[in-house]
Amino acid sequence: MIILAFESSCDETAAAVVEDGRKVLSSVIASSADMHAIYGGVVPEIASRKHVEAISGLADEAVRQAGITKGDIDAVAVTYAPGLIGAVLVGVSFAKSVAYALGVPLIPVHHVRGHIAANYIAHPDLEPPFLCLCVSGGTTAIVDVKDYTHFEIMGGTRDDAAGECFDKTARVLGLGYPGGAPLDNMARGGNDEAFRFPIGHVADHPLDLSFSGLKTAVLNTIHNANQKGEELDLHDLAASFSRTVSESLIPRVMTANAMTGYNKIAVAGGVAANSRIRADLEAACRAAGARLWLPPLALCGDNAAMIGCQGYYEYLAGNTAGWELNARASLDISKG
Ligand code: KG4
Repeated sequence: MIILAFESSCDETAAAVVEDGRKVLSSVIASSADMHAIYGGVVPEIASRKHVEAISGLADEAVRQAGITKGDIDAVAVTYAPGLIGAVLVGVSFAKSVAYALGVPLIPVHHVRGHIAANYIAHPDLEPPFLCLCVSGGTTAIVDVKDYTHFEIMGGTRDDAAGECFDKTARVLGLGYPGGAPLDNMARGGNDEAFRFPIGHVADHPLDLSFSGLKTAVLNTIHNANQKGEELDLHDLAASFSRTVSESLIPRVMTANAMTGYNKIAVAGGVAANSRIRADLEAACRAAGARLWLPPLALCGDNAAMIGCQGYYEYLAGNTAGWELNARASLDISKG
């Protein structure tokens, strides 16, 4: 089954052609991150306009690179939630028109389900059930992947997402937007014990976490030093920050793993590219005797191949949509 897939939930416009869920025939991405960098974060209206400009050309390019014709497309999949509403709407409207014109089914895909599915593309042997740490610009959740279309959130952030926390900290460090990857680089070689930052806890909810206190602590450290005219070692600061994020996440993932008994752990989303989190998870899984699946860096960020992959499993489960499909700014992964 050949699926043409679209993703437009934030600042990446993407199209891909995926065969039978796990074989990526093409995957093309256009990012408007450069435009947002000027403002220090995503400007939703700019993102939406850039999606409108890019999506049609990307669809043609995905079909061309896949070496197929439009007549070969069996279904169209699209991210319909969650995301910036104007941005998601562009993908949903375009996908609807393509599916209507081709006379093929329309498959709505939850964005975070797509991130999880990126692991299926990279790892042919991975099948549910498993536990997935979903960490992106908008999401931080420990998800029990019971089946391809059956998810349960075991824990997650009560405020900022991990990616947001990386981006906001990076902005204060003058690293631009998106700042996760440059902050990750800056942390390399730094002393991760130089600064002690707090790990957020939520009373009576051991698997839930909070990043707002960490963000404030980093900002205060930088502002205090500025006021006193002191120089901070930014490599040490970045390393200590990254360590705190990792230590906020990984013990909770391992607790959730022990609760499910799966001993199968995957990671998903843009922050899954973080070298500290990847290394710490590898060590924790080795110690616990759990198997770990890490997506390749190219599949961590937003792309449409992951939407085509998840779209295939949604289709098999009978989850197609009518022409009344609408975009949603927020939606629980278990209901998507
Ligand atoms: O999954 P993604 O591309 O978009 C969303 O669905 O949100 O994730 C983007 C997020 C940004 O916050 C970016 O700074 C972060 O992923 N990110 C990283 C790294 N690479 C990207 N955060 C930490 N370390 C990285 N290496």
